Parts: sequence; structure tokens; C-alpha cells
Amino acid sequence: MMSHSQPRESLVETTLPKTVRVVEVGPRDGLQNEPEPVSTPHKLLFIQKLAEAGLKHIEASSFVSPKWVPQLGDAEEIFANLPQQAGVAYSALVPNMKGFERAVASGVRHIAVFTAASETFVQHNMNMSIGASLENFKPIIAAALQENISVRGYISTCFVCPYEGEISRQAVLDVTTRLVELGVEELSVGDTVGAAAPVDVYELVGVLMSCVGLDQLSLHFHDTYGTALANVLAGLEMGVTTFDASAGGLGGCPYAPGASGNLATEDLVYMLGRMGIETGVDLDKLAEASYFIQRTLGRPLPGKGLQRILATKAKAAN
Ligand code: COA
Ligand code: ZN
Repeated sequence: MMSHSQPRESLVETTLPKTVRVVEVGPRDGLQNEPEPVSTPHKLLFIQKLAEAGLKHIEASSFVSPKWVPQLGDAEEIFANLPQQAGVAYSALVPNMKGFERAVASGVRHIAVFTAASETFVQHNMNMSIGASLENFKPIIAAALQENISVRGYISTCFVCPYEGEISRQAVLDVTTRLVELGVEELSVGDTVGAAAPVDVYELVGVLMSCVGLDQLSLHFHDTYGTALANVLAGLEMGVTTFDASAGGLGGCPYAPGASGNLATEDLVYMLGRMGIETGVDLDKLAEASYFIQRTLGRPLPGKGLQRILATKAKAAN
């Protein structure tokens, strides 16, 4: 049977990037949203399968307050037992100094801080203002850089906020500028609600390019209205080469009611593969990882490509 990730033989010559880096956020952004806790061994096996599929950056967990996100209360155990796969970077979210200290004690080498472009969203998500969240991250980022720990910064609600509605480009630019000034090396610009369309992406990336290099920018789309892949293409056209995605489309954000899951990694890898854009990810192995977590959760995941691959496999097995 033909592999699912073959590029087409003849391609129209495009000026799109030839290689894309995929940041897999399923184990964190996905599992933080699951009502039923997933056991630590199941999470570890999921992560191992993702690494075996060729993903080189996997966000493995979060050192946030277990009272706020009990689903990821086992971050220490996860980091103590991660599969050591050559060239794979595992990152963790940290909300405050306490979380950073826990992460450092667990040997974490890649952290992610997070804020948003909407005041109300940060209030709900972190119980503080945007300004306070940036102040809170200042010593953490400085300490991380001092210890050669890389720092990614998530900015949620960069297009529309579930509480405030439309978010201005200026608001996103302001937060991005502050994070870059604080030393954040990679910015993940998130469409938390999944409301953006390609025109929004052209506009926002165009604005952000004034303060951040394209190689420092990652785009994080949710597929609420089915626009996530169209937005990826818009990002590619603007020269963005890093995209966040979640295996099987797991997740969403508990603070964005009604928003559906993240862009599914299978859908992203399939589209890029067919366009001849290298990701290094083996689509069939990736689908095995997603199938594993789908069985663990006991419900079908929303990713369209995943369901197609699983259906094809089931048919071949009969
Ligand atoms: N790790 C473990 N425990 C932590 C912690 C951390 N990083 N940060 C705070 N806590 C504990 C405190 O020790 C305190 O415990 P106690 O009640 O037993 O004394 C309790 O949590 C409350 O701490 P406080 O400093 O008052 O924080 P808060 O309740 O205002 O919450 C955050 C602030 C940022 C810690 C919390 O909002 C949070 O973790 N948010 C993350 C949400 C998230 O992950 N969203 C997903 C990203 S999209
Ligand atoms: Zn997300």
C-alpha cells in the first residue's frame, strides 16, 4: 500500500519554505483539556511513539499548579522517565517561579512561558494582568537563559478572545515586543478560539515581522471553523517555517469555551508532505501514536487525516 506521506511527483514551482519544523503540543495542550486523567505510563508511551514518528520538539507537560490543571500533575514523573531519543527536545510550560524551580529540578532544558494578547483571557487563565504576567516571567526568563535553557513564549488569543472579541494587531505586537525584549527566543502566536482566516494571518505576521524574525515565529492554530490548514498555508506564504500541532487534533483550551481542538498533526504533516515540504515526520507512525491515545481515551479524536488513515488500515486488515 502506498505510504500516506508521499509527495506528489510533479510540483508547481513555489517559493514556499522547503522544510517545516513541527512542534507537537498534544501531550500538554491536548491532555490538559481531558476530563479523565490519563495515567503516567500511558502518557509516556504516547510521547515515545510521537518521538519514534520523527517529531523533534514535543511539549511533554506543564509545571503549573495541579489545583488548576490536575491532568498534568505528574510533570515530575514524566520528565524523569522520558524516552531518550536522539535529537528530540522536550519542553514544559511554566507559569511562575515555583513552576520554573520544579522544571529545573526535573532537568528540563526547554521551557515555555505563556500569556495572551487579551487582558480578560490572562485574568481567567493566570489570575493576573498581562503586565503582571510579563513581570512574573522576567526573572524566570533571565534565570533560564543564564542556565542555557531555551525559552518559548505562547501568546494566546492573538486574533479573537472568547471574552473580549476582536483583538487588535497592536495588542499582539505589544506583547510580542515585550517578550522579545525579555529574551524569549521563539514566539508561538496562538489562535486560541480558532477564528482566524488567511487574511488575518497575512496581516498579523506582516505586523509582527517588524519586531521578530520569521525563524523565531511559530503559528498555533485551532480548527474550530476548519480554517487551520488554510491559515498554515497563509503562514507559509509569509515565510513562517514553524507550526504547532497536536496529534489527532487533541485538545483545545479549557479557558476558551466552545473552541474545538488544535490543528491535527496528521493533517499538517499530510498537507506539507504532499506539497514536498519536509517535516521529518512519518505519517503512519504518527497515526499509530494518535491511535494509541485515542484508544486510551476511549473516543475518536477529531483529526480528519487520522480517521482516514485508521479507516484505510482497518479495511486493509479485513
Ligand atoms: N506548581 C505547583 N503548585 C503551584 C504552582 C506551580 N507552578 N503555582 C502555584 N502553586 C500552588 C501554590 O503553592 C498554592 O498552593 P496552596 O494553596 O497549597 O498554598 C496554590 O497553587 C495557589 O497559588 P497562587 O500563587 O495563589 O496562584 P493562583 O491560584 O493565583 O494561580 C497560577 C496562578 C499561574 C499558578 C495558575 O493560574 C496556573 O497554574 N495557571 C495555569 C493555567 C494553565 O496551565 N493554562 C493552560 C495554558 S493555555
Ligand atoms: Zn492550542
